[in-house]
Amino acid sequence: MVSLKTSVAGIELENPLILASGILGQTASTISNMFKAGFGGVVTKSIGKDPRSGHPNPTMLELDTGLLNAMGLPNQGIDSFENELKELFSIVSGKPIIGSIFASNSSEFVDLAERMEDIGVHALELNLSCPHAKGYGAAIGHDTETAGTSVLEVKNAVDMPVFAKLPPADNISEIAQAVEGAGADAIVAINTLKAMAINLETRKPFLGNKVGGYSGPAIKPVGLRCVYESYQTVDIPVIGCGGITTGRDALEYVLAGATALEIGSSIYYRGKDAPRKIVEEMKSIMEQQEIDKLSDIIGAVHD
Ligand SMILES: Cc1cc2nc3c(=O)[nH]c(=O)nc-3n(C[C@H](O)[C@H](O)[C@H](O)COP(=O)(O)O)c2cc1C
Repeated sequence: MVSLKTSVAGIELENPLILASGILGQTASTISNMFKAGFGGVVTKSIGKDPRSGHPNPTMLELDTGLLNAMGLPNQGIDSFENELKELFSIVSGKPIIGSIFASNSSEFVDLAERMEDIGVHALELNLSCPHAKGYGAAIGHDTETAGTSVLEVKNAVDMPVFAKLPPADNISEIAQAVEGAGADAIVAINTLKAMAINLETRKPFLGNKVGGYSGPAIKPVGLRCVYESYQTVDIPVIGCGGITTGRDALEYVLAGATALEIGSSIYYRGKDAPRKIVEEMKSIMEQQEIDKLSDIIGAVHD
């Protein structure tokens, strides 16, 4: 019997699929439905200190081989999200819930991290990579020093696993090294790619914010490269993310070095049943190739 069990920084997962931040991860009921749909873990929508309305419409566009979004980190702020998370814990207990936070500086990160720890999430994911919210996300993650400082201060403040979600940078190895040195317990690679689409008829950008983040099947090769390079450089686990749509995609990421996998746009392409379908496809390929457990092939492409 094939086993898909895995663990990241002490967080045990029944299967390696984790709902990526920002996709149906904002309310207690949608998050609990994601567990019912087959995810082994869930990352909640990135939450900031204060409520934020995000960018003007249109914020989302389907392209030929991916999705372009410029949501702009809309969220209800930590005070109101606390109630949502408490409700969630009363519905699902014991399931791995990773709280994603974004901030413009390390002291704000620390405040949010302490709040998340008090609420009781099992791990934190620092959004160091959103490409379309000025002063947040990638603005921090692209700078090795600022990324390292954010992780270091959060690690000094809380007693729980901290994941650093990195942008698809050319020098991802250096950033991965910096956050590992600062105490990160895992790396998540990658967030969306900064991109745009133009309407030939109106001669205007499609998105209200003009530029956004590209996700879905088109970005898989970039995600694979980032996981591959991170795995070569650091000893902490790497969580793969970016364009994982099928069981085949998921296993390619495992070969590149991923211990677990985050899934976002696939929910759009394959429906809410996406995790169950991907798990079944992974099992069937593993059976064909006589692989008993996931840990036998993590990073195998490096052998
Ligand atoms: C509509 C939308 C909203 C997103 N919001 C967030 C977010 O709040 N925080 C974050 O870290 N990533 C966010 N992401 C990025 C995803 O978590 C993920 O890193 C990215 O979409 C690549 O994975 P995918 O190709 O499986 O979608 C968002 C992506 C989409 C499409």
